[in-house]
Amino acid sequence: MDVDFGNALASVAVTGVSEASLERLDRRVGRAHERIAAGIEDRTFGYASLALPEETDPTEIRTALEGFDPEAVVTVGIGGSALGAKTVTEALGCAGHHTLDNVDPVETARLLEELPLESTLVNVVSRSGTTAETLSNFLVVREAMTEAGVEWTERTVVTTGDSGPLRDLADRHDLPTCSVPEGVPGRFSALSAVGLVPAAALGCDIEAVLEGGAEGRQSLSPSLFETPAYAYGAVAYALENRGATTNAFVPYAEALEPLSEWFAQLWAESLGKDGLGQTPVRALGATDQHSQLQLYRAGRKDKLVTLLRPREREDVPIPDTDVDELSYLGGETLGGLLDAEFEATEASLAAADQPNVRLEIDRIDAESVGQLLYELEAACILVGELSGIETFTQPAVEWGKRAARGLLGGGEFEEAEAVEGKTSRR
Ligand code: PA5
Repeated sequence: MDVDFGNALASVAVTGVSEASLERLDRRVGRAHERIAAGIEDRTFGYASLALPEETDPTEIRTALEGFDPEAVVTVGIGGSALGAKTVTEALGCAGHHTLDNVDPVETARLLEELPLESTLVNVVSRSGTTAETLSNFLVVREAMTEAGVEWTERTVVTTGDSGPLRDLADRHDLPTCSVPEGVPGRFSALSAVGLVPAAALGCDIEAVLEGGAEGRQSLSPSLFETPAYAYGAVAYALENRGATTNAFVPYAEALEPLSEWFAQLWAESLGKDGLGQTPVRALGATDQHSQLQLYRAGRKDKLVTLLRPREREDVPIPDTDVDELSYLGGETLGGLLDAEFEATEASLAAADQPNVRLEIDRIDAESVGQLLYELEAACILVGELSGIETFTQPAVEWGKRAARGLLGGGEFEEAEAVEGKTSRR
């Protein structure tokens, strides 16, 4: 990933960051890098995520998938156990991947109606093996397969931790399994079996995704001026300290739209701690230029706008027309138009004193996607280091999970009692 933060500098946008302060911040980036590098080396909890490109064994994944040649894959998982896989398959155009993350009954029923169950692979993913949404959806899918006369045990692969109810279920039915790597929180697990099983099952090049991740790792150095991931993280951190409490993440490529969702989870769940953290906003260029851009240009000056694009893409020519006012479009391409929109947005934001950062990848392929995922994770970890927070925990998310389980009678949880206490007072 290349990072251009020229439009986030104080010389361009009044609310931007001065070059002198970035120079000073770079000393802290150097110290943070030392901690990150040591954490990767020792495979310390969380930091171990940045060792995944070399730790993930594609053969383990391919062995678990032996004998499957599915027409469709449905990933049953939620949050970090779903968004990485969705991001990778959509970016790489691995057709046939569906995600069942929510427990909206209408959507679950619709998907089960649509799927060719006899040629679908069910990919159940849960690190803890206890997440109510995932296990409920899985039980529903399993039942639907049985009703359709499909032997679910022959069409299911499980990715989970070394112990827990999902591991027990997989063992009991002798299901093929992959392991969630040790020391890797869900949202940082895209470059493991958690994020790669569906892509592998649908014939995509997961080895190249991991090679891209490895390039990301090689690019880490002690200076933000030499490390794209740290440049992005440091500028986001510096801007947050100057009031940019929102980070609007805007890829200019439909295939990267799920990446916005993945980024939003990464940023929010990792950095939303101790009263800190930018609120990530998911957007898509050029579509959201016709809606959200109004706010980004003329609304409160509390934002960083992150614009992401591939430098090369397959293109479609725009045909000539005999309508005079439209003649400027003839001879152009849709990709050229999208690039013009990107650059116009960037310039218009800068002209309105709205800091923005340009992220570019060469093209959307397996390698660049692997590198992009890795570098955005490294950027997030750097922000966590600079902010002095616990990047790798998610106590608020866990609170909600325990409360929901308790309310459903799945155990005694004080969080559920707190919810019951509140609702009974109404
Ligand atoms: O990043 C995280 O830790 C979370 O988003 C989890 O991935 C999510 O809650 C799902 O948890 P599990 O994999 O245990 O089902």
